Amino acid sequence: MAVPIKLTALKGKIIAIDGPAGSGKSTTAKLLAERLDFTYLDTGAMYRAVALFALRNGVSVNDANAMEQIAAKVKIEFKNDGVIGQLIYLNGENVTEGIRTAEATHGSSAVAVHGGVRRELVKRQQEMGKKGSIVAEGRDTTSVVFPRADLKIYLKADLDARARRRFLEQTHKGENTTVEEQKKLLTARDQNDSQRKESPLTQVSDAIVVDTSSLTIEGQVEMIIKHALKAFKRG
Ligand code: DC
Repeated sequence: MAVPIKLTALKGKIIAIDGPAGSGKSTTAKLLAERLDFTYLDTGAMYRAVALFALRNGVSVNDANAMEQIAAKVKIEFKNDGVIGQLIYLNGENVTEGIRTAEATHGSSAVAVHGGVRRELVKRQQEMGKKGSIVAEGRDTTSVVFPRADLKIYLKADLDARARRRFLEQTHKGENTTVEEQKKLLTARDQNDSQRKESPLTQVSDAIVVDTSSLTIEGQVEMIIKHALKAFKRG
């Protein structure tokens, strides 16, 4: 993809995007990576893949030792499909859809509390970031994975906006749900993510906060690019 001249100033940089569930992290990070011709690193997909492996093999996601061993041995790969976008492979199998089921979502939240799992996955993520030109997205990317990222973005949105987005996403997938139910689920996930001992969701002091409540996805991407160009001109 041809990248507009002024955006080539961003080449080689690491951009980390953090924020609560439903703030628009994934869609924004994916689009941003496309626009900049950067690698998109979906760190949540890695926790989901570990959870999926455990669920399929009858291992409890609450067993810290077993989960750490699984995290150390499974092969997780990201591959780019020109048409569909990014695909996730677990031990050679395409699990792009499998990691998005309700069970895998629930399991990944349990898997993500284990320090050993986090250390293993963070190590892999940092390795992937070594070459730069990467947009990393996930709850500890600005604080733990890439504390020296060139640009840190913290996306936030009010609960109503996040619940409406999740409702539309889930109903689009054929799930029977309500905005109220999504509000309850998001509140529970927020609590879980910000109160856990290992790498809780935090807003680091050097992150640029972007409130996405009334922004479109395009608008969010444009705003981040503007921040990036400003930051790198200064730096
Ligand atoms: O962003 P997601 O919904 O795909 O993340 C799945 C789970 O993994 C979620 O419970 C948060 C957790 N996670 C994490 O703890 N650290 C990350 N860097 C990414 C995700």
